[in-house]
Parts: sequence; structure tokens; C-alpha cells
Amino acid sequence: MTKITNYLLIALMLLSVACTGGNGGAQSTSSKVIETNVPVRPAGQEDMVAFAAPKIEVVRVGFIGLGMRGPGAVNRFTHIPGVEIKALADLHMDRAEKAQGILTRAELPEAALYGGSEDAWKELCERDDIDLVYIATDWKHHAEMAVYAMEQGKHVAVEVPGAMTLDEIWSLIETSEKTRKHCMMLENCVYDFFELTSLNMAQQGVFGEILHAEGAYIHDLSAFWDTYEKDWRLAYNREFRGDVYATHGMGPACQALDIHRGDKMNILVAMDTKPVNIPEYLIEKRGVSKEEAYKFENGQNTMTMIRTENGKTIHIQHDVASPRPYSRMYQLSGTKGFANKYPTQGYALEASQIDESVAQNHENLNAHGFVPAEVRTALMEKYKHPIHIELEEKAKEVGGHGGMDFIMDYRLVYCLQNGLPLDMDVYDLAEWSSLAELGRISIENNSAPVAVPDFTRGSWNKVKGYRHAFAN
Ligand SMILES: NC(=O)c1ccc[n+]([C@@H]2O[C@H](COP(=O)([O-])OP(=O)(O)OC[C@H]3O[C@@H](n4cnc5c(N)ncnc54)[C@H](O)[C@@H]3O)[C@@H](O)[C@H]2O)c1
Repeated sequence: MTKITNYLLIALMLLSVACTGGNGGAQSTSSKVIETNVPVRPAGQEDMVAFAAPKIEVVRVGFIGLGMRGPGAVNRFTHIPGVEIKALADLHMDRAEKAQGILTRAELPEAALYGGSEDAWKELCERDDIDLVYIATDWKHHAEMAVYAMEQGKHVAVEVPGAMTLDEIWSLIETSEKTRKHCMMLENCVYDFFELTSLNMAQQGVFGEILHAEGAYIHDLSAFWDTYEKDWRLAYNREFRGDVYATHGMGPACQALDIHRGDKMNILVAMDTKPVNIPEYLIEKRGVSKEEAYKFENGQNTMTMIRTENGKTIHIQHDVASPRPYSRMYQLSGTKGFANKYPTQGYALEASQIDESVAQNHENLNAHGFVPAEVRTALMEKYKHPIHIELEEKAKEVGGHGGMDFIMDYRLVYCLQNGLPLDMDVYDLAEWSSLAELGRISIENNSAPVAVPDFTRGSWNKVKGYRHAFAN
């Protein structure tokens, strides 16, 4: 039952904290905190916070994984200036050949194709005419492929979650730090229109101080389970508890809270419901016996709560089984206002946070309800993020989840071309992906608090405030 043999249950940390100050007069507490191993950074190795690589004028890219997600990325890259698509790889050669058709239709040169064996992707990584390896395979291949690509001197962009275990996370961090190569997770939801606008508002103080953020991946996948290569996604959920797909919720929440740019996550607690709908699906649709079907680890609804160094909280949910509307549950709650998406997209603000350029008679507004639709529209126009000002039209034309996927790819290439730090670094990948294993540890120990490792190993306060980088 308790699977923490490979972790150090170091800390029976008796935190006798006498809080006399601003925390509502909280009394002393004591708790056991489970800590996991944090490897010592090898001597001479430096962190990757704010790391910028030399400019790459033309970004030469190779794609691995051309199932449902990968070909869309290939297509988006054909719309980005200063890119050459050099190679395409998939286990199935016919998928690589099909993706070649995207290049043909775009009247671009042919790419080299790799496939037909489990390891053919390695040859793509070994090419000397590639700067960036873009990985859109199943979860279990992400870390292995990303590590190998960096070792071959390539920058890496890897689909979500970037890694599934703490060992994988640490191997990505060590390799990125050692090779001085970017390892960016392809978290697209941070570029969605409401989220990026709200981030801009948060950075300009419209919500006051953000104290709490929420996010989720709530998406009934029952219509999709059969579509994944070798059933990888259902198989993973069958095997592991914890939030195995936390990054869509974590990304926007962590950027708004400046995680490892002045704050860091300290403690996590997770809890889940028993699984019902997927085991029943396995019985009904796949003829699995009841006994086998209910040997199912992942909870139907998994909740994770996190507290940060600066006294903020994050709440993240995962539910891919319940019949309910799609939701990423995006919320920012501050001392002067509130942003919410799913099911209602809106803002609630104290009157002091709105000026006449946005709403006349704004002094009559208060945060008990959402601002009227026309005020929300005016706010979103006023605080439109510079990235959206530049890219919105093109992004909507090219598409990919309404445009956010294109913005993600464009920004990745733009930052590489201009020698800028990427919008997301290897520590974002680590923090947002870590809920899978840290949450599992918590759940398997009666929802005990688990320490969130400082993946930057001491550099979380070096940069003050999350910001996107621009060339000028
Ligand atoms: N960010 C998003 O919005 C979003 C949306 C969908 C999927 N995803 C992510 O994209 C990734 C892929 O998901 P998908 O839906 O395309 O899955 P999929 O099963 O359709 O595709 C995975 C592909 O990887 C290939 N593959 C597996 N092993 C390989 C190997 N050894 N060498 C080369 N190729 C190999 C498979 O043949 C398959 O074509 C996952 O990580 C998923 O979480 C992200």
C-alpha cells in the first residue's frame, strides 16, 4: 500500500510555528512532511534560470511523434518564418510519410523520414543539421527522448506533461543544466486569450495581490480512450494515482503567482475519489472482468492543494471520467479582484480597479458580481497582451485550440531566433509535471503533506516576477 520505499521519509518535521503576525492569528501547528530526494547539483554545473542560448537565425527542427497531436505542430511550423523542417519520425513510417504531405502541400522541401522501429527517432536526434527536437509522443517516452536529444546538442520542446516521475524530472534538469540546452514543455494553455490577458492584468496589479489560483483538466475522455497508440493513456491512468495531467491548470496559475520568479511551492496535499466510470467503461466496452477493471489506480476526481513560500495557495483538479462539461477551472483570486474562466468567463473587481476608460460610473461597481459584458470586453481590450496584439489574427487563422498552439510555437521559435530566455524553462516543466508523483505519494499516505522540491536548487528568487522576453 505505502509505496514510498524509494523516497526519504526524512522529515518528521515538527513545525512548531508560532504565528503572531498577519495570518489571522493562526496558532502553532505540527505536521509530518514527506520529503523526496533532491540530488546535489554537481560542482561547476549552473542553473538554467533566465538562460538564453546564442541566437539561431533559422531554426531547424525535427519532429518525433506524429499521432493525433504531432501533425498539427508540423503544420503550424510551416506558417512560422525562419524555420526549416528537416526530419519527421514516428514508430509507424506511414505516419511520417503522411506528415511529409503537409510539407508538400506547403511547397516546402522534403524532410528526412525515420520510423519502423522503436529506436529510429535516435537517428533524428543525431543529425547535425537540427537545432530543435519537438516531441509529441506518449507520456512514457517524453523524458527519455528529451534527455537523448539534449545530449546530442539539441534544444528540446516536449509535449505535456514533460515527465511523469521525479526521477525523470531530475534527469531532465540535470541534462539541461549540463548541456546548456533549453528543455521547454509545450504547455499551450498559458497562451489562451483569457488567460494571457488576465496574466497581463495581474502583472499590472488590477487584482491587487493574487493570493489564490485554481486550474484543472476536466474532460470526459470516454470517446477518445481507443484512439491512443497502444492504449498508452488509459494504461497510465490504470497504473498510477495522483494528478497525471496537471500542467494545463498549473501553467496559468504558476505564471500568475511568479513561481520560481520570487515565490516557490512548498507543500502539497492531494486527495482523490474512488474510480468508477473508467472501470465500468472497461467492463462494458472492452469486456474486462470486474475484478481486473477495478484494479484501477487513478481516482475519478483528483484534487491537489499547494501552499507557497509567500503564503499563496493553488488548487488543481483532474477528472477525465465524469460526464460533465469541459473545464480548466481557471481562477485568480486577489486582494482587489477576481478572474474566472469555466463555465463563466468574467472579472469581478473593486471599483478602485477600474477607470473611466473602461467603464463610466465605475464607482458603482463592486466585486460581488461579475462586471457587465461590455466592461469585460473593454478590460480585455485595454489589457490585451503584447503577444496577442502581435499574433492574434494570424493565430486564429492558423489555429490549434483556437490559436493558442500557434502562439506557443511562434514564441518558441521567436525566442530561439532572438537569443532570449524561453517563456517556459525546465523548472516550469518540473514544477507543473511534479503533481503526478508528489500527489501520488500524498494520496498513498492518507493525504499527508509532501514537500515540493525546489527544482531550481536555490535559484527560485533570482528573477523577480514572471515576464515574457522581447527582442527590443
Ligand atoms: N497540449 C495539448 O493540448 C495536447 C493535446 C493532445 C495531446 N497532447 C500531448 O501530446 C502527446 C501525444 O498525444 P497524442 O494524442 O498525439 O497521442 P497518440 O497516441 O495519437 O500519438 C503518439 C505518437 O507517438 C508515436 N510513438 C510512440 N512511440 C514512439 C517511438 N518509439 N518512436 C517514434 N514515435 C513513437 C506513436 O506511434 C504515435 O503516433 C501526449 O503527450 C499528449 O499528452 C497535448
